[in-house]
Amino acid sequence: MNMHQFEVIVIGAGGAGLMAGLYASRSAKTAVISKLYPTRSHTGAAQGGISAALGNLEEDRVEWHTYDSVKGSDYLGDQDAIEFMCQEAPQAVLELEHMGLPFDRTPAGKISQRPFGGHTNNDTGKPVRRACHAADRTGHMILQTLYQQCLKNKVNFFDEYQVLDLLVENGKAVGVVAIELSTGELHTFHAKAVIMATGGHGRIFEVTSNAYAYTGDGAALVLRKGLPLEDMEFFQFHPTGIYKLGILITEGVRGDGGVLINGKGERFMPKYAPKVKDLASRDVVSRAIYTEIREGRGVNGSNYVYLDVRPETVNRIAALDGRTNPDGSPYVVTGEQILQKLPDIIDFCRVYLGVDPVTQMMPIQPTAHYSMGGIPTNKFGEVIIDDKQTTMPGLYAAGECACVSVHGGNRLGTNSLLDLVVFGKYAGLRAAEYANQVEFGNLPADPEAGVRNELGALRLETGKENVFDISTEMKKVMFDLVGIYRTEKDMIAAIEKVRELQQRYKHIKISDTGRVFNTELINAWELGNMLELAEVIAMSALNRKESRGGHSREDYPNRDDKEWLKHTLVYKQSNEIKIAYKPVTITKYQPKERVY
Ligand code: FUM
Repeated sequence: MNMHQFEVIVIGAGGAGLMAGLYASRSAKTAVISKLYPTRSHTGAAQGGISAALGNLEEDRVEWHTYDSVKGSDYLGDQDAIEFMCQEAPQAVLELEHMGLPFDRTPAGKISQRPFGGHTNNDTGKPVRRACHAADRTGHMILQTLYQQCLKNKVNFFDEYQVLDLLVENGKAVGVVAIELSTGELHTFHAKAVIMATGGHGRIFEVTSNAYAYTGDGAALVLRKGLPLEDMEFFQFHPTGIYKLGILITEGVRGDGGVLINGKGERFMPKYAPKVKDLASRDVVSRAIYTEIREGRGVNGSNYVYLDVRPETVNRIAALDGRTNPDGSPYVVTGEQILQKLPDIIDFCRVYLGVDPVTQMMPIQPTAHYSMGGIPTNKFGEVIIDDKQTTMPGLYAAGECACVSVHGGNRLGTNSLLDLVVFGKYAGLRAAEYANQVEFGNLPADPEAGVRNELGALRLETGKENVFDISTEMKKVMFDLVGIYRTEKDMIAAIEKVRELQQRYKHIKISDTGRVFNTELINAWELGNMLELAEVIAMSALNRKESRGGHSREDYPNRDDKEWLKHTLVYKQSNEIKIAYKPVTITKYQPKERVY
């Protein structure tokens, strides 16, 4: 048996995992296990920025950031956690800067900031520059910076190891079992504390901005231990994904003056959000695009609209809207400046679409982007296992796989990078502190038995079902029936279909019988995770009979605070889904109607 022992083990090497690993490693022997090479993690796809009320270009306040996040969450976010995150934000960004992150600069040499959806001056209601950015590669820069810091701090990395089981003994997390992808060998990692930082599960949907790796592994592992997941019905559709491909086109495009245009050549966002227009929060903009398309105003009758960032459009709209620079001069951009601010998305459009955004409009559609729900935690990353805030000793989670909950029903753009930096750090600190106080727990007698059986069953299966076919059908049904707009009828149909696919999954055929980089086997295992989470998402959504944030029901179009101002907790026990609820933490901000 390949046996390893570390005080703290982090699963996942995105921003949350690296931050957790970095902080844990300062006082505990720490390893990070990742299915990818760390700098290939999905944090690298986050483009437009990380939020912090630095006020480098105009007045901004932590209280405004806090209130915008509460309002953006449609009041489902826990306000104590949101306050904590927003207070930590300026220090977190400065820490990244001091670690060497190459942020863009203002003329005065400070960290540059751009407007983003839902970021406002709470006095005037106008957009405020709060997103700190490194061109449109902010997440990529965070990954590189944190990885270098981890290497400097001698964090142990196990790259291209897929964790397949979480080991729980006597009610405590005691380690994990992983497969080394290059050899097919199993490894047991014995730990005092395990931090899940495994990212999201957007690959459940047909059109998504998420990396292939985003298959909900951590959430599924936790669910299988009989532990709950929180608010899984809340999935965010980012308004601007490249048509059909789903690749993210950053909201920074609209922050820098880009606008949405329908098939009739009309700018339509003022109709849906008269105050903040194209910079309304994501749920609002995605629904607006969807409505335009449904009502026949997509481009050429198809299901896409345009995003226009051509300098002549940006300058015309800026003049109409009276947009100015921080010094009061009129806001004017050149093609060169667009190229400098948005190099990656311009490259994506040129390469994947043959469209040059400096001279042509970009065809876009909403794309499945971010899971607000996940493994319930408190603000120190400790995993919560019931509706009474009870925590599980030794188990932590941070980043997109976790639900603190700072995003509630809808996340504001750039709060994800902030979330993973802040809560990754605190999960790492708390896990190391715990590890320094306890002895190693006992491992199960045969820790790898569960995984051996699971992989054996997948490998030996002589069925006829094809992994790709099941996966394609699941993605389509989830995108079409549990997507931006939802109804009871559609969701019941989706649940039936997902359950049918779960049955078919038991009869899949894996043709690769080898051990070295058997990606067919791993993809099959990941599909099992996604099928479980798809059912959980659809069931949680079916149960919530209201519309809130990213959960928009045509049969219950209003938010209902009397009945539904509560978090969903979903469990899978004895193969049955059970749903419970727990209260939302309200500190200062009583729910109000959202005004756009
Ligand atoms: O639009 C974007 O750049 C995405 C940022 C985010 O999801 O926070």
